[in-house]
Amino acid sequence: MSVKDRLDINNIPEHVAIIMDGNGRWAKSKGQMRLFGHAMGVESVREALKAATEIKVKYLTLYAFSTENWNRPKEEVDGLMDLLVTTIANEIESLNENDVRLDAIGNIDELPTKCNQELKNAIERTKSNKGTCLILALNYSSKFEIKSAIKQIAEKYKQGEIELSDISDQMVSDHLFTAGIPDPELMIRTSGELRISNFLLWQLAYSELHFTPIFWPEFKKENFYQAIYDYQNRERRFGMVSEQINKANEEA
Ligand code: FPP
Repeated sequence: MSVKDRLDINNIPEHVAIIMDGNGRWAKSKGQMRLFGHAMGVESVREALKAATEIKVKYLTLYAFSTENWNRPKEEVDGLMDLLVTTIANEIESLNENDVRLDAIGNIDELPTKCNQELKNAIERTKSNKGTCLILALNYSSKFEIKSAIKQIAEKYKQGEIELSDISDQMVSDHLFTAGIPDPELMIRTSGELRISNFLLWQLAYSELHFTPIFWPEFKKENFYQAIYDYQNRERRFGMVSEQINKANEEA
């Protein structure tokens, strides 16, 4: 029986987020340039998306470019931007065929013009799709996102639009790039690194974390299903004790 067949279809996470890591190290291990690793990583993006659509994950968020990534050598940054532009342009048709809606989080207006235009064009052309929503985190920083939410809320307080007592978890969530999107139940990071790296810090508060030593270009559908399987075998307690969770499940 494959891992996919062992999944409980009634317990598929609604939102899975992935830190796609290890492209550079994978390329180096093959005696190739880092950009080759990124190019091969695109195939793993397709694999993860196909797997997510097959089991009806509603949102798949991929960390494609952080604000810190601008500090990489210019050649690598330019190559990554070119790769994003060509990949997004080439995939629009396939996204529509598979009913996938594209969205983005991060400061996308500060991306190079071509990349920003291509992204907005793809978002527009897939906006009516009803299947999985693929969210690309681009020029993304979670600390920036939280800081900006604080500023927006502080401004509303200053203008007298809200009271201090109105500030709730929900209000903070509503001012993030991910407003309206449920928090990920599962976050996967490849390449053996055990960090969150400024990714969805607020949204991951109660997510299950899955770390795998596999480098991103080697990540296939089976690895995605394995992560979901592991998730389904975790006990999510949200600060409570097992007995309370079991009782709640019995009553549901
Ligand atoms: C991390 O590996 C990967 C990235 C910073 C970029 C990911 C981009 C892609 C897979 C290509 C385009 C994606 C889309 C969504 C179209 P790393 O370079 O940090 O690897 P290392 O840790 O081994 O150096």
